[in-house]
Amino acid sequence: MSQPSILFVCLGNICRSPLAEAALRMRAVEAGVALTIDSAGTGNWHVGRPPDPRAQEVALIHGLDISGYRARQVTTEDFSRFGHIYALDPQNLKDLRRIEPKRHFSEVRLLMDMVPGRRGTAVLDPYYGDAEDFAEAWSDVCEAADSIIKRFGGR
Ligand code: 4NP
Repeated sequence: MSQPSILFVCLGNICRSPLAEAALRMRAVEAGVALTIDSAGTGNWHVGRPPDPRAQEVALIHGLDISGYRARQVTTEDFSRFGHIYALDPQNLKDLRRIEPKRHFSEVRLLMDMVPGRRGTAVLDPYYGDAEDFAEAWSDVCEAADSIIKRFGGR
């Protein structure tokens, strides 16, 4: 059987979803769990760009270099390529629902629904915020990454 495949989706793919990707990559290595991990945005404004410098900064504080990541827009093919598609906020989830093919086998849900006590909540968009907002987004995606690792067989 192929390994679980997970796609994180936010609006621009330069702030929250790259952080979610980085956090889960780190946790997966730590836990020795093999996962396919990627991220994308519902919008196309930042396609081809590296993560926002403030996202790079918060990742680097935690030892992760995400400068090589490049933004891309989510596609209908993603619904057949990924088994699990996690939206970073409720609007991202709505936008995914608008483009999802009639038939597909992906689980499409809100990321924070994975975290006990956080059902229905957003990873808040830090784009118009400051370093503190990026730190909060980082903390949220780390909690979510822990839950994902537990679900997919972490030790
Ligand atoms: P992200 O943040 O969805 O977490 O990548 C944003 C990035 C760019 C914009 C909004 C949010 N924007 O308006 O360009």
